[in-house]
Amino acid sequence: MSTTDLLAERLHGVRERTLGLVDPLDDDWVTRTPDPIMSPPAWDLAHIAAYEELWLVTRLSEAAPMHPDLQATYDAFETPRAVRGEIRILDGRESREYMDAVRERALEVLARADLSDDGPPLTAGGFVWHIVAQHEAQHDETLLQTLQLMPTGAYSPCAGALPPGDGGAGAPDPIDVPGGTMVMGAAPGQGALDCEQPAHLRHVAPFRIDRAPVTIGRHLEFIADGGYHDPRFWSAEGWAWRQQHHVEAPLHWQQDGAGQWTRTWFGCTEPVDPAEILCHVSFFEAEAHARWAGARLPTEDEWEFAARFDPANADDAWAPWGHAPAEGRANLGQTAFRPSRVGAFPGGQSPSGCTHMLGDVWEWTSTEFHAYPGFRAFPYREYAEPFFGDGHRVLRGGSWATQEVAARTTFRNWDLPERRQVFAGLRLAWDA
Ligand code: AVJ
Ligand code: FE
Repeated sequence: MSTTDLLAERLHGVRERTLGLVDPLDDDWVTRTPDPIMSPPAWDLAHIAAYEELWLVTRLSEAAPMHPDLQATYDAFETPRAVRGEIRILDGRESREYMDAVRERALEVLARADLSDDGPPLTAGGFVWHIVAQHEAQHDETLLQTLQLMPTGAYSPCAGALPPGDGGAGAPDPIDVPGGTMVMGAAPGQGALDCEQPAHLRHVAPFRIDRAPVTIGRHLEFIADGGYHDPRFWSAEGWAWRQQHHVEAPLHWQQDGAGQWTRTWFGCTEPVDPAEILCHVSFFEAEAHARWAGARLPTEDEWEFAARFDPANADDAWAPWGHAPAEGRANLGQTAFRPSRVGAFPGGQSPSGCTHMLGDVWEWTSTEFHAYPGFRAFPYREYAEPFFGDGHRVLRGGSWATQEVAARTTFRNWDLPERRQVFAGLRLAWDA
């Protein structure tokens, strides 16, 4: 397949996902947000179009934007999430029309584009098209966070099946990792984002890391042990947050009359499954759980080492299992609408023996989000740079709500330590 066709197909694949995701959404909710930390779904849709228009149409041709008056509305910095529910935005139908119209123009520009590797860095090897497809996939995950926050009845997706898993050891199962010097970060190309670059050498001291992420069963033990009410397990900041918000369980959980924990996800209430990977905890809760377990969170260096580094074959595979696609090896792709049970993907193991490193849940690391040495913002300043050193924590690995185009072992996500709408859990680590 030509690079042009491959890029067109990639854009098309993500678009099908976006439209499929919002299709079951109740009309009333398309332009409303359930929470001021999120955007109304229609904002995300038209923002996806505006971003594509900017990078794939107006930057690469003589064409003018279709809605010059709405440029500021769909700029994430000029119009922050807190006000997106209050201003005039395009409705669902108008947003979809905007998406279609931009796509038509973007494909015309792509058909005549020079994609050669020695062209300008923006277009070389199809870089900017990879970035735009990935941006839409990232917003699909954001949309899913919003949809998850909606009241019962607003959104009822059709979830796909997952392979069975036994829940793993039911207790920590530490792997000794010898450490060493690794190449951390991504080489340019194929859509690696600026904050993943430049690739550089890092020394990682020996450490221990859990084979699998923490399960719901283990977190039930933390709850039963009074973990949410014992300040010894919490950082001072985390404890203050817990007290202020009366947090006693992961987001979307509740206790039924008999004292059993249930959760309400996408409008469906069901008993929690102890074998399933824990999701919807904040960094503060993750930290407290780890301390209760006699462990700590891994640093992002340790996480990347455990996910990628193979002393026998230090290559640049995108996934812990190598170069093969994710199908059957990880819960990625936004179809399961839940994390899997531990053990569901034996073929997804990393060289060090860790499972579930990509997909299922983002994993909180103890690392604050900072630039790698030699960082250069590209192709625009606002993607990552404004968030460096601002209390954001690094999350690794992607979740069930991440698409393959936006997942890889070098990918760095970030969020504030109190956020719980993210599809995030944790994996334990220890000093060697
Ligand atoms: C990388 C998920 C933190 O949603 O703020 C979307 C991705 N950047 N549009 C975000 C992003 C610009 C970003 N995260
Ligand atoms: Fe965006």
